[in-house]
Amino acid sequence: MKESRCLTVATALLTLVALKAYIEWTAEQDEQLPAPQDSRWHSSSITPVTPVWPSEEDWLTFVRQHFNESLQQLRQTIPRAKAYWNAKQHQLFRAVEGRPVHTNDSQSECSGPTTAEKTAKIKDFESYSELHKNFILYDNCRTFPLLINQPDKCNGTKDRTFLLLAIKSLPKNFAARQAVRDTWGREGEPGGLPVRTVFLLGTGQSRYGLRLQNMVAFESRTYGDILMWDFEDTFFNLTLKDFLFLNWTLEYCRDVRFILKGDDDVFINTPQVLSYLSSVDSHRPLYTGQVVSNASPFRVHRSKYYIPESFYVGPYPAYAGGGGYIFSGPLVRWLHLVSRYIAFYPIDDVYTGLCFHALGILPEAHPGFQTFDIAEKDRMDPCVHSKLLLVHRRSPHQTLDLWKQIKDPNLKC
Ligand SMILES: *[C@@H]1O[C@H](CO)[C@@H](O)[C@H](O)[C@H]1NC(C)=O
Ligand SMILES: *[C@@H]1O[C@H](CO)[C@@H](O)[C@H](O)[C@H]1NC(C)=O
Ligand SMILES: *[C@@H]1O[C@H](CO)[C@@H](O)[C@H](O)[C@H]1NC(C)=O
Ligand SMILES: *[C@@H]1O[C@H](CO)[C@@H](O)[C@H](O)[C@H]1NC(C)=O
Ligand SMILES: *[C@@H]1O[C@H](CO)[C@@H](O)[C@H](O)[C@H]1NC(C)=O
Repeated sequence: MKESRCLTVATALLTLVALKAYIEWTAEQDEQLPAPQDSRWHSSSITPVTPVWPSEEDWLTFVRQHFNESLQQLRQTIPRAKAYWNAKQHQLFRAVEGRPVHTNDSQSECSGPTTAEKTAKIKDFESYSELHKNFILYDNCRTFPLLINQPDKCNGTKDRTFLLLAIKSLPKNFAARQAVRDTWGREGEPGGLPVRTVFLLGTGQSRYGLRLQNMVAFESRTYGDILMWDFEDTFFNLTLKDFLFLNWTLEYCRDVRFILKGDDDVFINTPQVLSYLSSVDSHRPLYTGQVVSNASPFRVHRSKYYIPESFYVGPYPAYAGGGGYIFSGPLVRWLHLVSRYIAFYPIDDVYTGLCFHALGILPEAHPGFQTFDIAEKDRMDPCVHSKLLLVHRRSPHQTLDLWKQIKDPNLKC
């Protein structure tokens, strides 16, 4: 009897030690950069007049009818080159036009790692990193089971969800998620505006993966804010995570007004965000954040953003830095639809920018988004933060501190 209790205590302690170790593993996450195009989205087309949602066979016709002009413009910005992604994307453009495509590489098929054909297209494929190789081998895979769902996330409010905070996290980032829940990510209805939070996760990569998954399942039962899909949560799978999130939103949070997509290490001034969004014309398509313009692929091997020349050549479209940006909920279905005709790109915020371009929507800069952080001296200044919408990056501890200070009614600025 006593022995088994000892065992229980020891197991619990071990779990805690393991948890602490996981939390202390640092997660590297940063932002990056791109070139705008002049295209206009007609506000009437935020929900293009369509009596019924097109059936699968009609999607192509639908995209062709509604987004031909913007797709053509996007096409002009992507050099026709031999590089893998350029070639693949131009093939997709041809497919949208209904022109015959001379290949067997079915775009919707998830062909897996046996595709020698794919790798043969890249002369220096063998020199690619494991991450780059895996990206290419799986870049047509878009269907992964949802291991942990929150099907009721957006119901149960009298009004439709006003703001959905969709936070990219990693299984091991327990502390970051807790800090978010306890501060700017707290769910509720401030000022009558329903705010909901979900954390977007894949599965852990290491041999601890399964144990982590069990801990995350426990966390989900406690807080009800975890979405976890059965794919490896790596940096280059963030585009996949984005896509699966769009799919989830269409199924479970279709009527949401605005979505804030961000990292778990940003600090968001939620009251300020709500007050800004309340003033936005909800018929206008919104895609806003810190805009990265005139960027192009990083060619430095050691960079997390490194893109080989045999993979992509050309500029990046203007995009909103992935640390955090906001867009209109009604755009989800159009993004989801058009993304079928944009090949997955390893850098998720660049990919999102590409999809918005395909819809004819350019990112709008908002000075309240500081995804590259602010002057060093202001980094723990509550007054500075009380005027901002979002800064990157803050530790869980700093987040708790800052939140307490900006919420203090005695704060004098
Ligand atoms: C799409 O736009 C291109 C260039 O503007 C034009 O040549 C083509 O006919 C258009 N296709 C459709 C289906 O409207
Ligand atoms: C397409 O696949 C068929 C059989 O699966 C093969 O015979 C043919 O050569 C392939 N064509 C191309 C262009 O790869
Ligand atoms: C909540 O909404 C989703 C889809 O919008 C639905 O599948 C689910 O049954 C709803 N749950 C409740 C408790 O009404
Ligand atoms: C993305 O996830 C899939 C499924 O787990 C995995 O096979 C693939 O290697 C991952 N891709 C990258 C680039 O890590
Ligand atoms: C979401 O993905 C699943 C699995 O691929 C698919 O069956 C479903 O139709 C998708 N939902 C939407 C709204 O596209």
